[in-house]
Amino acid sequence: KLMTLNEKVGQLNQYNGDWDAAKGPITKDDEKQQQIRDGLVGSLLNIRGLQHTTQLQKEAMKSRLKIPLLFGQDVIHGYFITFPIPLAEAASWDIPAIELAARVAGTEAAAGGIHWTFAPMVDIARDPRWGRIMEGAGEDTYLGSLIAAARVRGFQGKGIGNTDAVMACAKHFAAYGAAVAGRDYNSVSMGLPEFWNVYLPPFKAAADAGAATFMNSFNDLNGIPATGNAYLQREILKRKWNFKGFVVSDWGSVGEMINHGYAKDNYDAALKAITAGSDMDMESRSYKNHLAQLVKDKKVPLALVNDAVKRILKKKFEMGLFDDPYKFSNAAREKAAMKNPAHMQAARDMAKKSIVLLKNENKILPLSKNIKTVAMIGPVVKLVRENLGFWSTEWPDSNSIVSQWEGIKNRLGPDSKLVYAQGCGFTDTSRAGFAEAIAAAEQADVVIMSMGEHRAMSGEAKSRSNIHLPGVQEDLIKAIHATGKPVVVLINAGRPLIFNWTADHVPAIVYTWWLGHQAGNAIADVLFGDYNPSGKLPATFPRTEGQIPIYYNYFNTGRPAQNENDVNYVSAYIDLQNSPKYAFGYGLSYTSFEYSNLKISRTAITKKESIKVSFTLKNTGSMAGEEVAQLYIRDKVGSIVRP
Ligand code: BGC
Repeated sequence: KLMTLNEKVGQLNQYNGDWDAAKGPITKDDEKQQQIRDGLVGSLLNIRGLQHTTQLQKEAMKSRLKIPLLFGQDVIHGYFITFPIPLAEAASWDIPAIELAARVAGTEAAAGGIHWTFAPMVDIARDPRWGRIMEGAGEDTYLGSLIAAARVRGFQGKGIGNTDAVMACAKHFAAYGAAVAGRDYNSVSMGLPEFWNVYLPPFKAAADAGAATFMNSFNDLNGIPATGNAYLQREILKRKWNFKGFVVSDWGSVGEMINHGYAKDNYDAALKAITAGSDMDMESRSYKNHLAQLVKDKKVPLALVNDAVKRILKKKFEMGLFDDPYKFSNAAREKAAMKNPAHMQAARDMAKKSIVLLKNENKILPLSKNIKTVAMIGPVVKLVRENLGFWSTEWPDSNSIVSQWEGIKNRLGPDSKLVYAQGCGFTDTSRAGFAEAIAAAEQADVVIMSMGEHRAMSGEAKSRSNIHLPGVQEDLIKAIHATGKPVVVLINAGRPLIFNWTADHVPAIVYTWWLGHQAGNAIADVLFGDYNPSGKLPATFPRTEGQIPIYYNYFNTGRPAQNENDVNYVSAYIDLQNSPKYAFGYGLSYTSFEYSNLKISRTAITKKESIKVSFTLKNTGSMAGEEVAQLYIRDKVGSIVRP
C-alpha cells in the first residue's frame, strides 16, 4: 500500500550487473545505481561476493522504502568448487549425491552474497545436438523428476531464509529442450500428451519440492512464446499447481516477443508478458519503460501488478532480507566456504560416480599402478580450467583444479614413467602432432588418450549439427591404435558424441563428460580401480545424427521392426539400424552382477494401489561394486498408446 506505481514496477525489473566480480566495481552504468536509489530495481544478476553485494545493497538502502535487492546468479554445478556438469551428475543415478552437490553449491553461493540461483534446469532433452543437454538430467522424465526435486532440496536446504540456502529456480518453463532440430532458442511444436507426460513432470516435481521461483523460456510453444503464454504460467503453474512463488523471464525474453512476431513493440510485449503471468522482467526493460503506462491506459489491471509485486516481496521477506539486507554478505562465512575440504571431497565423490565405463575388452581396466611406461595423448590431457565445463565460474585461485595429467601422475607408482604428446587440437585439422604422439605411444605399455569437445562446445547457444568427435581426433585414435599398444580412450564432452570407429576398435572407452575441480583425481580413481565405475547413461547415444531425436521410451508403432535387419514395410531405415550405439541406462562395471528371483506382489491393481517388485542382486565378480537396478514397465493396452 505504501508503494507508488513506479516503485511496484521497479520490483519487477531485473538488471544484469555491470560489475566485474573479479576486478572490482565498474561504474559503466552509473544510471543503474541511481535507479537502485530511486527504488526502480528489484533484482540484479551477476553480482557476487561480499564486497559487491554489500556495496549495491547499500545503494538500495538509500531508496525511499529501503526494499532490499535480490541477487541472482547462474549457480549451475557449483559456485567456488565446480562439480561435474549436470548431465554427468545425472549419470550417477545417485539422488542423495546429486542433492548434496546442490547443497554444497547453495551453501557456497549463499556465503558469497547470492540469494537465488537460476537452477535447476529441468528440461528434458532428447536431442544431443542441443548444447544445453549438458545442463539438465538427460532424456528421462522419471529420473529427471527425481533429480529436479533433489536439486531443489539441495539448493534450498532447510528452507529459504537460512544463511546457507539460496532460492531455486526451475527452468525453462516450458519444453525448451524440444527446440526443433536441436537448434537453441528454436520453436517447439508439441502435442499435449507428450507435453504433459514427458516434458512437464520434472517441473511439477520441482514445484512440489518447494522451488521458490520458475523461469520461463525463450521458445514458443505451438506458436505462443513461453513468456507470453498464459496457458503455461497462469493456467498450469499458478492455478493448477497452485504455485506461490514468482516467475522470472529469461534474459530479454519479454522484448524478444517482438522478434517472434508476437508483440508489436515493447509496450505490447510488456502487456502480453504480465497478462500471461511473467512476474519479473530480466533485462528487457519492457516493464520498466511501459508497465506503469499500461496501467494508466487501463490495459493492465493494477491487480496484476500487485500480484506480481506481492510474490516477489514475499520471497524477500522469507529470505529475511527485510530484517537484515546484508544477511548473506558475511566475510567470515565467505572465507570459510571458499576452501571447505568437505566440499572438495563431495566434488570428488560426485565426479567418480558420474563416469560411465562404455567398453572394457579383455578387462584392460583397471590399470596397474606399477605399469612401466604410460603415454597420455590428446588435447585434454594437460588442460586445467577446461575440466570445469560450461556454466562454471572461474575464480582467481582456480589452481586447485586437478588436471587429468596431474591426477594420473600422482597415482602412478614411483618407478612408473609418464610421457605426453598432445597429438592434435580439439577442432583443427592439423596432423602435425601425430608423429610425436605415435612415438610417445611406441615407448609405452599403455596409452591413455583424452579426447572430446572443448568446454565451450556444449552449453547455451552451442548447438551442433555434427556431433562426431570433432577435428581429426578420431584419426589420431586410429593412428595410435595402429601401434598395437593397448589404448584407453577418455571422452570429455557435454553431450552424447558419435565415435563409431573408436567404439568398434578401441578396447577401453570411458565417458568422463566434464567433471569439474576433481576431474584428474576422479579419473585416476576409476582407471586404477580405486573406484569401480557405476555410472549409467542418462541419454541415448545415436549411431548417426540421422537418428535424432532418439530416446529409449518410444512408441511401438503399428509396424514395429521385428529385428535390426527388418525393413519390410516396417518402421525402420533402409540404410541404418534403429538401435542406438549405446542405450539409455547403459554402463559397465569392473565386476559382474546377476539378477534373480524376480517377484511381483500382485498382478492387478486399482489406480490408488501399488505393486511391489523384489529380486536378488548378486555381485558375481571379484571386486566390490555398485549397481543401479533399473526396472522398465509397459502398459500393454491403454486409452492412448504408451511407450
Ligand atoms: C539463460 C538462462 C540464464 C540467464 C541468466 C539466459 O541466457 O537461458 O538459463 O539463467 O541467461 O544468465
